[in-house]
Amino acid sequence: MLSGRKILLIIGGGIAAYKSLDLIRRLRDRGASVVPVLTKGGAEFVTPLSVAALAGEKLYRDLFDLGDEAEMGHIQLSRAADLIVVAPATADLMAKMANGQANDLATTLLLATDKRVLIAPAMNVRMWEHAATVRNAEKLKQDGILSVGPDEGDMACGEYGPGRMAEPLAIVAAVEDALLNGPLKGKHVLVTSGPTHEPIDPVRYIANRSSGAQGAAIANALVALGAKVTFVTGPAHAEMPAGCVIVPVETADEMLAAVTKSLPVDAAVFAAAVADWKVISASDKKIKKTKGAKLPVLEFSENPDILQTISSMGKDRPKLVVGFAAETDDVQKNATDKRQRKGCDWILANDVSPATGIMGGSENDVTLISDQGAENWPRMSKIAVGQRLADKISDELDD
Ligand code: CTP
Repeated sequence: MLSGRKILLIIGGGIAAYKSLDLIRRLRDRGASVVPVLTKGGAEFVTPLSVAALAGEKLYRDLFDLGDEAEMGHIQLSRAADLIVVAPATADLMAKMANGQANDLATTLLLATDKRVLIAPAMNVRMWEHAATVRNAEKLKQDGILSVGPDEGDMACGEYGPGRMAEPLAIVAAVEDALLNGPLKGKHVLVTSGPTHEPIDPVRYIANRSSGAQGAAIANALVALGAKVTFVTGPAHAEMPAGCVIVPVETADEMLAAVTKSLPVDAAVFAAAVADWKVISASDKKIKKTKGAKLPVLEFSENPDILQTISSMGKDRPKLVVGFAAETDDVQKNATDKRQRKGCDWILANDVSPATGIMGGSENDVTLISDQGAENWPRMSKIAVGQRLADKISDELDD
């Protein structure tokens, strides 16, 4: 199944483009969402209306469509997907990809992306067997571009041989293989996310402004690289990530118990905004306001520090432990101290002062602190932070 997976589908200009309409339907049947990009040539074979209607998503066509640039730039579009599929991949598109040309929206996306690309070549048999195409196919393979087909058979041009685009179901199988066999295949990663709620009485609680968006983005990005992800989340507003084992919790104590239960894992990312304190002996009955009586006084005790507990474990300590540091001042210094104090490997420091709009917002501005020092990342979407972190985790676990 491909539920929650995002595919950017580039439809090139070939007669096989009609099969891409069926491909869209098949991918969506499996739960994937498909963002279509139709090349100028592709639009000679299938209509923009049928592509957009089948995808149920906005169709992208032109690099210089300023409306689209205002909504989503081509860089962002090229990275918002889990996988880019080019079907049909014409001889011309393959040649441009092999040589790094970028003179329209499709080729620009292919050059700008940091995601894996799967091509389904389709062309006349002589074109497929031409030395130039053989060279280009080899170059693309060396560049790590995945490929499915072409099949052998009767061609629309009347000739016979290899060059027919792979059937939609074979392309779906290749997509599943690419997504489920990513670089984190076989690795188990734990992610904590969202706020915790610490009860005062059955109807009141202490919480914080965390939306859970950053944690969900990290989990999605890890799943996209093929990891098994256990997602322990407090009551968050953000959409739950797809393809994870989701463990909902409410309090910090419950979060620690769920985290401990999910061990051993290869890596753990602690993105939750855990409440530092809980109310001692929360009332099991609603606290009433009685006229003239004294206001209730709440007494607190400290919550367990989940990150610190896991970082200081012996044999079950994950190989890589990543924390966050939510700071409002002296961000880098406080975060560096926090990394030492908590004993984690990396800490992602962010400034959560109200003016930054980070807490509860869609962007983040982080500095990654490790034993190698501080690495400032430019301000980017929380989705992009998740992807960059997932790539780094993948590199680290690979070593
Ligand atoms: N964290 C945790 N358990 C807690 C508190 C925090 O696991 N009880 C984790 C968070 O998920 C985050 C990191 O510790 O990865 C730092 O959280 P933060 O709120 O920035 O720090 P605090 O520990 O609350 O420290 P301070 O109050 O000094 O900022």
